Amino acid sequence: MNILEVTHLSKEFNLHILNNKRIESLKDINFTMKEGEIIGLTGKSGSGKSSLMKCLYRTYLASTGEIIYLSKNGAVDLVKADDHRIIDLRKNEITYCSQFLSVIPRVAAIDVVCENLFRVEKDKDFARSQSKNMLEQLGLPYDLWDAFPVTFSGGEQQRINVARAIIAKPRFLLIDEPTASLDAKTKDVVVDMILRLKAEGTSVLVISHDEYTLDRLCDRRIDLKFGEIISEEMATNQ
Ligand SMILES: Nc1ncnc2c1ncn2[C@@H]1O[C@H](COP(=O)(O)OP(=O)(O)OP(=O)(O)O)[C@@H](O)[C@H]1O
Ligand SMILES: [Mg+2]
Repeated sequence: MNILEVTHLSKEFNLHILNNKRIESLKDINFTMKEGEIIGLTGKSGSGKSSLMKCLYRTYLASTGEIIYLSKNGAVDLVKADDHRIIDLRKNEITYCSQFLSVIPRVAAIDVVCENLFRVEKDKDFARSQSKNMLEQLGLPYDLWDAFPVTFSGGEQQRINVARAIIAKPRFLLIDEPTASLDAKTKDVVVDMILRLKAEGTSVLVISHDEYTLDRLCDRRIDLKFGEIISEEMATNQ
């Protein structure tokens, strides 16, 4: 069953401060995604990967086209759905993990990570114990658990960001560069965590420039160039 059907999706920006200069970041994008599949989104810098992900999460409103998402309560067009429906899907089904961590200052790492799980489970102790468990697996030094992530290194922030995104086991995960600043061992831990989510049914769209991460994770790759899909390939390990 397809969890996602994208047809004729385009996105253009009108830059008013530059005399209405038009930038087409996505042009006639068409693809489908099966439930439980992991798709890798690849392509050079500026090819439109993050724009596509943001259109799916509705951070960007697509200029044309349809994004049919099969939610637990039936099909919904993420381009046309009203804001309440989008907020509800973001709370309960779709999680977006951006490339960089942005957090409220002065909230401890462990609380940043458990936030999404606490919202669903309403059990602070359970959420905190799950959060500790993830931080331990990800090798975040114990001393940092109660510290504020604002001052963390790039790789430490990335681990917090990934842990926060996956702790509540979203149904559909959009994840932008999850392993870019990580060492080989931690990269493997993150990849294993995402594979465990997949095993539990999560569908994942992942942006990565890292061949190792893509090889280990993806069932299929979609390659973008200048805002267009130039190839769709099944992974060689399938
Ligand atoms: N909010 C925006 N306003 C104007 N132009 C934008 C906006 N967001 C993206 N673009 C443009 O769309 C194009 C695609 O950008 P996008 O961020 O999707 O690329 P990307 O493939 O994610 O690149 P990278 O690998 O560097 O993250 C770029 O030319 C970018 O300048
Ligand atoms: Mg990007």
